[in-house]
Amino acid sequence: MTKKIYKDYFFDEKAFNTHDGGYVPLERSNKEEKPLAIPPLLKADKVNGNDIYYTVEAQEGESQFLDGHKTKTWGYNAPFLGQTIVFEKGQHVHINLKNSLPELTTFHWHGLNVPGPITDGGCHAPVYPGEVKKIDFTVDQPAATLWLHAHPCPSTAEQVWKGLAAFVLIKDAKELKLPFPRKYGINDIPLVLQDRRFHENNQFDYLKDYDPDGVQGPTAVINGTVNPYFDVRSQKIRLRILDGANRREWRLHFSDDLPFVQIASDGGILPEPVGFTHLMLTCAERAEVIVDFGKYKEGDKVVLYSDDIPLITFRIHAFEKDDTVLPDHLVDIPEMKTDKNTPVRKVVMSGMDEEVMIDDKKFDMQRIDSRQQVGKVEYWDITNTNKMEGGMIHPYHMHGVQFEVVSRNGHEPYPNEHGLKDTIGVNPGETVRLKVRFEKAGVFMYHCHIIEHEDGGMMAQIEAYDPDHPKTYHLMDMDTLTKAFAKERGVKPEDLHLSGMESYEKMGMKM
Ligand code: C2O
Ligand code: CU
Ligand code: CU
Repeated sequence: MTKKIYKDYFFDEKAFNTHDGGYVPLERSNKEEKPLAIPPLLKADKVNGNDIYYTVEAQEGESQFLDGHKTKTWGYNAPFLGQTIVFEKGQHVHINLKNSLPELTTFHWHGLNVPGPITDGGCHAPVYPGEVKKIDFTVDQPAATLWLHAHPCPSTAEQVWKGLAAFVLIKDAKELKLPFPRKYGINDIPLVLQDRRFHENNQFDYLKDYDPDGVQGPTAVINGTVNPYFDVRSQKIRLRILDGANRREWRLHFSDDLPFVQIASDGGILPEPVGFTHLMLTCAERAEVIVDFGKYKEGDKVVLYSDDIPLITFRIHAFEKDDTVLPDHLVDIPEMKTDKNTPVRKVVMSGMDEEVMIDDKKFDMQRIDSRQQVGKVEYWDITNTNKMEGGMIHPYHMHGVQFEVVSRNGHEPYPNEHGLKDTIGVNPGETVRLKVRFEKAGVFMYHCHIIEHEDGGMMAQIEAYDPDHPKTYHLMDMDTLTKAFAKERGVKPEDLHLSGMESYEKMGMKM
């Protein structure tokens, strides 16, 4: 068992979102407790040796979040969120991407190391309504909790808000050898943390809730359940927690300050387990934790909170004693080799509200902002120039890679940042140094994962190139997307309103 138990959130408290004027606090639910929804596992269409075939369908649906009216929602093979997709390392995966929505979408595999920009599924890979597109790739990375979400710039935030997000789990032989709970839905639980506001007739109204610094709602919605409880029938439970909110940070802790142990971060298993009583996640980050309910007895309740708002009640039932001990060392993560000639690249995230930018520019899908050779390691220094007072923590995310975190303002990264990551919260005034190596060629986006910041232009893109196999890419353009969105919504292109556009217009910039 890990010796040290950390007791703080590590991040700079002054920048917690509670300090910002537009912040929408979570409210304590007065609704009846309901069993936590567990997303079903997506069944393969067919398996043929090492080849597996799936169909992922983006669809409209209705969800019973509250009593009375159902809420109109979107999801993947489900009315809201999605069925969980499981890949095995080394598997050759074929996916039909089917769009049954009334508007275009893309299927972005957040955290998956696949070629860009089409397989990766960012804004260059639209699937129009009624279309089915095919991708295939080999799973080439360790066991991890990843996710799938929509990414049609500048409407990513609205589509995710409607429900387009699902878990993607990678399994491998190393993970299988470790003493982790892994009975899906029983003691291995995916947990997506989101928040919503319910308007008239229990509907979402994204435009009404719009805030260029990120849309929030007062109601916590966990796996699509409002005020959930979970029946604990094993002493140890593994939670695969994803901050799937558009903008909210979650500051997690249990009643009685019950300690828990993090075993994995975004890109997979940590080299060593890290114990704490408090854990903060910024948008799109994942943490797999093991909670030991050993000191509780049948009938007890343990509550998971964010700040002082209860999120889930764990109802303790009889369980068999489980005295498995985690090893002090979990996996070896081969260090990315650098030397004195390793280049240092600088990325600056600046502004708030409509002014957000990367390197003083807003995103342009036709512009490649940087290039890096596949297989070569570079340092990336990511700076957040917001002021400590009133500034925001920007969760910085990169497509196409799992990076190493070298330092925060020259100091050691947080204790749970020694594994591979694809998203990292950068405090105001801070520079986080990463080691980045692309394994696959392509054009990949990097951006703030407050999704409204991303749609508002706090995003750039890099070409990872292989000099032996030069490629040219067909990049999507805003005109094509605007026309398609306009047609689908039955308006003239000049009358089309997508929230992210406001950030460009207010700055007098063209998308
Ligand atoms: Cu979670 Cu650009 O993505
Ligand atoms: Cu991503
Ligand atoms: Cu941001």
